[in-house]
Amino acid sequence: MTTTQSIGVAVIGAGMAGRAHLAGYRAAPTQYGAGLPEVRLVAVADAHEPFARDAARRYGYQRAETDWRAIAEAPDIDAVSVVVANHLHREIVEGLLATGKHVLCEKPLAPTVADAQAMVEAAEQSGRVAATGFTLRRSPAINAIRQQVAEGPLGRVQHFNGHYWCDYGHHPDAPMSWRYRGGTGTGALSDIGSHLVDLGEFFCGPVRSVRGAVLSTQVPDRPVPLGTAVGHSADVQVSAEREPVENEDIATFTATFDSGAVGTFSVSRVACGLANSLGFEVFAEGGAATFDMARPAEFTFADSSLPAATSGYRSVVVGPQHPYIASGLPMDFPSVGHGQNDFFAWQARAFLEQIAGLNHLPHCPTLADGLHNLRVLDAIVSSATADGKSVAVQ
Ligand SMILES: NC(=O)c1ccc[n+]([C@@H]2O[C@H](COP(=O)([O-])OP(=O)(O)OC[C@H]3O[C@@H](n4cnc5c(N)ncnc54)[C@H](O)[C@@H]3O)[C@@H](O)[C@H]2O)c1
Repeated sequence: MTTTQSIGVAVIGAGMAGRAHLAGYRAAPTQYGAGLPEVRLVAVADAHEPFARDAARRYGYQRAETDWRAIAEAPDIDAVSVVVANHLHREIVEGLLATGKHVLCEKPLAPTVADAQAMVEAAEQSGRVAATGFTLRRSPAINAIRQQVAEGPLGRVQHFNGHYWCDYGHHPDAPMSWRYRGGTGTGALSDIGSHLVDLGEFFCGPVRSVRGAVLSTQVPDRPVPLGTAVGHSADVQVSAEREPVENEDIATFTATFDSGAVGTFSVSRVACGLANSLGFEVFAEGGAATFDMARPAEFTFADSSLPAATSGYRSVVVGPQHPYIASGLPMDFPSVGHGQNDFFAWQARAFLEQIAGLNHLPHCPTLADGLHNLRVLDAIVSSATADGKSVAVQ
């Protein structure tokens, strides 16, 4: 791919994550301007016009649209983030690829494996950059741990233990939204479990089989919102009418990886008091590491080759020596830290650099990675349906 003179960007969906993408494209060239072509902030599209207009104003995009097709047809747009409800991803991604756009589609790629397969085929035919938004892979701390697995003292992972616990569904009157609709497996498992499965594979390689899966719905119905809800919808008024919840609040399962590693996973959207609690432990042949998203610029690390007197877990604050943030932060020293929103800027940077043909950082996950992720989720649903039996990933 040749270097592009300038890249016009747009975001479809101005909800919770859409705003993170809008901010990400703003931040990427301010932090990494020397290496990137000019980035033009062209348009934001949201079916709810006030959201589109407000987002365009706040984040400094030239146009607000209400129909994604206006983005697909616009000649001044090259790269588009698709950040709407999962069941809308396929139609929009296929439409964008057909008009020659580079696409960054949010996770989970689609509600079904069949949809995702079609999206992968569309991407292959298009020849465009087509990425899946496994944003956590752009975390410097998570990458620093992986580097210690691949090249450092940790070596082969034996056990990955991860949780992703959120409370957005804890209150029984949290309003109905697209997150609670769709069949078994499209709830907490897809919404947040997709990230955790991807991280497990980031450290251990492909999942071979899953077993012991339990999917449980704790809140059977939810009130219909009176207004347009965004993200986890905590602040929208609700009516007295209630609708049935169609998917799971909790998912737990174990996995075996091709590498011989074992994974234990716990996912919940009804975890009281925990807004966005992702954490994991990686136990490996040469040591161990832990990550807690409450402190996103840090990790702990234990090297088992050290003498007993000085071994043990030590905290590492990720700083400007890490290639994802080197020379990129305004205050460029470790203790300043960074937050979870910054991951979207580094994801945007990676996507834009790939489009420009700059290859000095790992590429974004592909749509095929998003398809594979859905195959693992599918196996988890099959295991749960069969009372926890072992199911191989297709
Ligand atoms: N990578 C991450 O860390 C991360 C975090 C949160 C959400 N997500 C993903 O992002 C996507 C969106 O999640 P969200 O929480 O931002 O949802 P949201 O409900 O907050 O926002 C969705 C927006 O899409 C708009 N919309 C609905 N139909 C539309 C259409 N046809 N065309 C254009 N806009 C339309 C809605 O008005 C709303 O503003 C999901 O796929 C979700 O899984 C990813």
